Amino acid sequence: MSQLPVRLGLAGFGTVGQGLASILTENAGWITRRLGREVKVMALAVRDRTKARPVPFPAGARLVDDPRELARDPDVDIVVELMGGQTMAHELVLSALEAGKHVVTANKALLAERGSELFAVAERQGVGLYYEASICGGIPIVQTLKESLAGNHILDVTGILNGTSNFILSRMTSKGLSYEAALKKAQKKGYAEADPTLDVEGVDAAHKLALLIRLAYGRDYSLSDLPVTGITGVTPLDIAYAKEFGCRIKLIGKASMVEGKISAGVHPMLLADSYLLAQVHGAFNAVRVTGDAVGSIMLYGQGAGGRPTASAVLADIMALARDGAAPNNTGFPEKILPPADVLSADQEVSKRYFRFSVEDRPGVLAALSGAMGAAGISIYQVLQKADPDCPDETVVPIVFMTHHARQRDVLAALAKIRTYPFVKAEPVHLRVL
Ligand code: NAP
Ligand code: HSE
Repeated sequence: MSQLPVRLGLAGFGTVGQGLASILTENAGWITRRLGREVKVMALAVRDRTKARPVPFPAGARLVDDPRELARDPDVDIVVELMGGQTMAHELVLSALEAGKHVVTANKALLAERGSELFAVAERQGVGLYYEASICGGIPIVQTLKESLAGNHILDVTGILNGTSNFILSRMTSKGLSYEAALKKAQKKGYAEADPTLDVEGVDAAHKLALLIRLAYGRDYSLSDLPVTGITGVTPLDIAYAKEFGCRIKLIGKASMVEGKISAGVHPMLLADSYLLAQVHGAFNAVRVTGDAVGSIMLYGQGAGGRPTASAVLADIMALARDGAAPNNTGFPEKILPPADVLSADQEVSKRYFRFSVEDRPGVLAALSGAMGAAGISIYQVLQKADPDCPDETVVPIVFMTHHARQRDVLAALAKIRTYPFVKAEPVHLRVL
């Protein structure tokens, strides 16, 4: 082997950093066989050198306290950012790109919030900024969109992009747990952070969807344009009604091309049990892509965890080692992508689920369906179930499933229905995939 090794500067030695180190050690021979070169960690930045870790620091790596030293290190070709956060991670990635080094990162928050700036610097410097691990961990969706489906117009990208939320909803569905009890379980298993806000409020999925839109449509989609609803309002009652209609509730990120504009959002949605996506349980992720030539494909796997995520980080390192002279950051010749033409949120169309808590008296159903009809919404199914344990209940749930409805019309119908005195609680409405 005459070629020089691929020399890494690794920032972060937590879950993913240790996963990467263990694969680099265990699969060293295979990686060299594939690449024709060794991959070596030359320098490593952590916050606390004395912390006990299950995986040893890579042999021969120089330990540094300030991650920015990696950007200045002449022995480093690729900076691998696995710290997370946005302050130091941004400084490191920016300074590494400015110094003409390639960067691999798993940090979707950083790229979704500040990607436009960082990709512009990468373009100016002619270096790679690769991020396979940042969308759904080990699932190779970036490469799939950038390379494998490059010849397709992408009609739709729909995914379960957050494992923590999927675990919580799966437990609520299979074990009948409340949201709070399922969240505790997710925290006990190490899926959910002590502060689970980013996961359960849909923000993590929104970061990933914004990146998927860049890859699928070659457009820079601003996070502030993305409608996002989390799962904190999903109740066991709605999960039970969804079952009555042969559906499950999942947190779905979806982007599609509608009349030349991008319609996108992250929301809890009902989906029929027969869909492959409905069979994605626990902390797993999946992404379904529909292209005009290929039809629909689906990728499924572990969206988090040290080794699955590090598998994607390593793929980026190896890709950069191969095509570093002409990196393909965006999958498009223009490396600074034009802004997305966004379908206005009130024009979005989807089938809907509504649950109203209403007094059980004559005329109520007619008034509800009248408000729907007046707003141009066509009802597909109706359900009112008496609770046999409470035959004298005066407030009952009425559930509607509708045909496709425009968001503007849904809001108009809800505004009218809220004024009815027989409506006893804020109506629940969810999209249906
Ligand atoms: P983690 O376990 O919290 O590890 C973070 C590492 O970064 C630690 O080793 C920490 O050092 C180091 N670090 C943080 N700030 C630092 C600073 N200012 N200076 C030096 N070192 C610093 O994080 P992780 O779960 O591996 O996640 C890393 C990245 O991958 C994040 O962007 C995350 O969103 C992304 N990601 C993670 C997963 C996953 O399953 N965990 C999946 C997909 C993507 P100490 O160890 O000394 O504290
Ligand atoms: N927190 C994320 C999830 C994993 O629950 O899917 C990292 O992207």
